[in-house]
Amino acid sequence: MAMKDISFLLLLTGFLYLAQAQSPPAAYLRTPTQRQLDWFRTEYYAFLHFGPNTFTDEEWGRSQSTPDVFNPTGLDTDQWAKAFVDIGMKGMILTAKHHDGMCLWNTSTTTYKVGNGNWAKQRAAKGLDFDVVRMLAASAKKYGLRFGVYLSPWDIHRDPAMSKSQLKGTIFDEPQIFGTAAYNDLYTSQLTELVTMKLADGSAVNLYEVWLDGASGSSTSMQFNFTRFRDVLRTHQPGAVMWGDNGPDVRYIGNENGIASTTNWHTINLTPDQPLGSGSLPGTGVRDGKNFVPAEANSRLRPGWFWHANEKPTSGSDLFSRWLQGPGRSAPMLLDVPPNKMGLIGQDDIAALSDFKRLREGFLNRTLITPGLQISASSVRSGANATAYGPSRAIDGSVDTYWTMDDSQMTGSVEVDLGKNCAVDGVIVQEHIALGQRIGGWTFDAMVSGSWKTVVTGTSLGYKRVEKLSSAVQTSRVRLRITQSNAVPLVQNIQVLGVSV
Ligand SMILES: *[C@@H]1O[C@H](CO)[C@@H](O)[C@H](O)[C@H]1NC(C)=O
Ligand SMILES: *[C@@H]1O[C@H](CO)[C@@H](O)[C@H](O)[C@H]1NC(C)=O
Ligand SMILES: *[C@@H]1O[C@H](CO)[C@@H](O)[C@H](O)[C@H]1NC(C)=O
Ligand SMILES: *[C@@H]1O[C@H](CO)[C@@H](O)[C@H](O)[C@H]1NC(C)=O
Repeated sequence: MAMKDISFLLLLTGFLYLAQAQSPPAAYLRTPTQRQLDWFRTEYYAFLHFGPNTFTDEEWGRSQSTPDVFNPTGLDTDQWAKAFVDIGMKGMILTAKHHDGMCLWNTSTTTYKVGNGNWAKQRAAKGLDFDVVRMLAASAKKYGLRFGVYLSPWDIHRDPAMSKSQLKGTIFDEPQIFGTAAYNDLYTSQLTELVTMKLADGSAVNLYEVWLDGASGSSTSMQFNFTRFRDVLRTHQPGAVMWGDNGPDVRYIGNENGIASTTNWHTINLTPDQPLGSGSLPGTGVRDGKNFVPAEANSRLRPGWFWHANEKPTSGSDLFSRWLQGPGRSAPMLLDVPPNKMGLIGQDDIAALSDFKRLREGFLNRTLITPGLQISASSVRSGANATAYGPSRAIDGSVDTYWTMDDSQMTGSVEVDLGKNCAVDGVIVQEHIALGQRIGGWTFDAMVSGSWKTVVTGTSLGYKRVEKLSSAVQTSRVRLRITQSNAVPLVQNIQVLGVSV
């Protein structure tokens, strides 16, 4: 072999080595599906508890009135959607059927539906739609909101343990099949109707989340076939996540106050058919768990889930504090905003939500990091192309790029020169979870009088952490330090909040 050929081979080997070193990090254990990533990015959305309870002043409708009770005098689902867009939400989830069993859509599975009440008959006579789920789906599309449905597994209307004396002898007196296999068939039919729903113009309704509440106040034991329900959802709505106590796609966070644990792993070991874990488990999850099932932070704007005349919304500052402890700890915020008896979102509710928006945006819109700033890293993943995984990738605004290092490195830091003196009071950090959750320890440090001062110390990172400092720190240089990780850390985004001084 001629010398020329050998050097060519060496060159080729070297090139292949570099090309290989530049390959992206392998996925670490469990990774989210695209539907889960899209759900994370929905971040803040409304829960709409609306139905007979709105009119009977109940939370769990045991009174079992006929559908005539459902009588919103000025129902306007466009008003709901517009209000939610205006206050910065990205989606909404409606109780298509709550525990009382009365269906808001025009189902053929039961007589117990609003379509069989006077309100619907009067609308039908005027040629107006009375399918509340379809009406809201149309409003969601019109205003560019994502749409989801809640379909209660527990159904008082079908539960033999719950009295329905008022409905005896009426067309609403239906077989008491809750607790038997026949109820799984009924539930499957109801779910199938919802996930195959079409708008009046024939277009399909795309759902992003379906909520299967685990609550029950009955002695009747029922073995739900969650696998079957999931299969129906996957077949017809592959982009929708299924919420259940333990998933399969999104889990309960362990409280209904919208508060995530400070340590929040996106994985657990349980499946939907296993009992909900107790204690801190739903909140913290399990590090390196078998299933990727992130937590959702759900809470209420008012004391009840349904609208009640004697209740008031909480304050904007309370909502902002909840936001920091929900989405700020990698758990998207599902906030219940119940429509009133007229079928509108009340002005007092909109005022509280607007105040929350003002506080949230006033905090977030003081970004100090712009793509042009000088950013450096303790090390960068080696290879021919130093820009592919360099620290500038953490401030380029893309969800597909990130700063990382060689596979063997579990700790490291990135440092940003803010270019001026600033009063810093917030930091946002996102891990590139598309390739798995890895980081278990991090700090945010500020250069103060010539030395580094740690101002935030965190454990898990995940989709997105937002930390608001109790007092601003005066600095012109900041850094993110990854102090513990189970695989090479991938930092997708860093943002620093404050004002220049
Ligand atoms: C409502 O559903 C019934 C069947 O349950 C059907 O006959 C009727 O056409 C539907 N009405 C509308 C407006 O969709
Ligand atoms: C649950 O549903 C699945 C899928 O339809 C089916 O294969 C399975 O037999 C059902 N399980 C029970 C206990 O009925
Ligand atoms: C930031 O948000 C606050 C509160 O909503 C607002 O008053 C201010 O005009 C906003 N500033 C920018 C630059 O968007
Ligand atoms: C280096 O990586 C960046 C980002 O992935 C890419 O845009 C660019 O084309 C790459 N350059 C070369 C020479 O491969």
